Amino acid sequence: MLITFEGIDGAGKSTQVKKLKKYLMEKGHDVITLREPGGTVVAEKIRDLLLESKHDITPVGELLLFSASRAELVQNVILPELKRNKVVILDRFYDSTTAYQGYGRGLELQLLQQINAIASFGLQPDCTFFLDISPEDALIRKFSEKSLPLAFEESELDRMESSGLAFYQKVRKGYMKLLENNERFVLLNAGDEPQAIHDRIIQKLASLCKNTASTEPAKNRKQ
Ligand code: TMP
Repeated sequence: MLITFEGIDGAGKSTQVKKLKKYLMEKGHDVITLREPGGTVVAEKIRDLLLESKHDITPVGELLLFSASRAELVQNVILPELKRNKVVILDRFYDSTTAYQGYGRGLELQLLQQINAIASFGLQPDCTFFLDISPEDALIRKFSEKSLPLAFEESELDRMESSGLAFYQKVRKGYMKLLENNERFVLLNAGDEPQAIHDRIIQKLASLCKNTASTEPAKNRKQ
């Protein structure tokens, strides 16, 4: 089973990924958590290039780098782990590309669909949790996490985070469009208490799993 988490930076995805991993492991599932971009030696190098680079990267270059990182991760890690019946929890997948490079940077959505399909080898998440937060609130969170004053130095932000509030507003709108058009999306209010968000995630997965034999804990499944 492939579960993905999406949201703008600062929405609290990593907290929920950790909580869900712990919960599923306690239930006896074999779980692996991964993040994009990254997860293989090559993909981590691409991550550094994308986030740490002080150089400008063109929107198409950015799209292809995120996609290259994804192809590495999907073929080398995600597909083999799914074959081993692991539950894969992924912090970002191609919906990030649609939201950030499509709606945010303005690249053509049809082109993105094709590239997303190539880079993910046609793989689709079973369920996608979207943590919604306004870009303004996300920024405040980000700075309190890093214990920085709100009058900040640009250099404290990575290359994507330096894209500005207007960019993040477009990205958020993009996620809303994805939510309208995809049943696998579950909307969560990132402003709620982390435990309440986690409880909703568990509820949603429980109803999803009722009809899905493949989500039984691996040790209970017949070989
Ligand atoms: P994160 O790992 O802290 O979420 O950082 C990844 C950054 O990269 C974040 O700003 C979202 C961005 N991103 C894209 O723009 N497109 C993508 O396809 C992915 C996976 C991430």
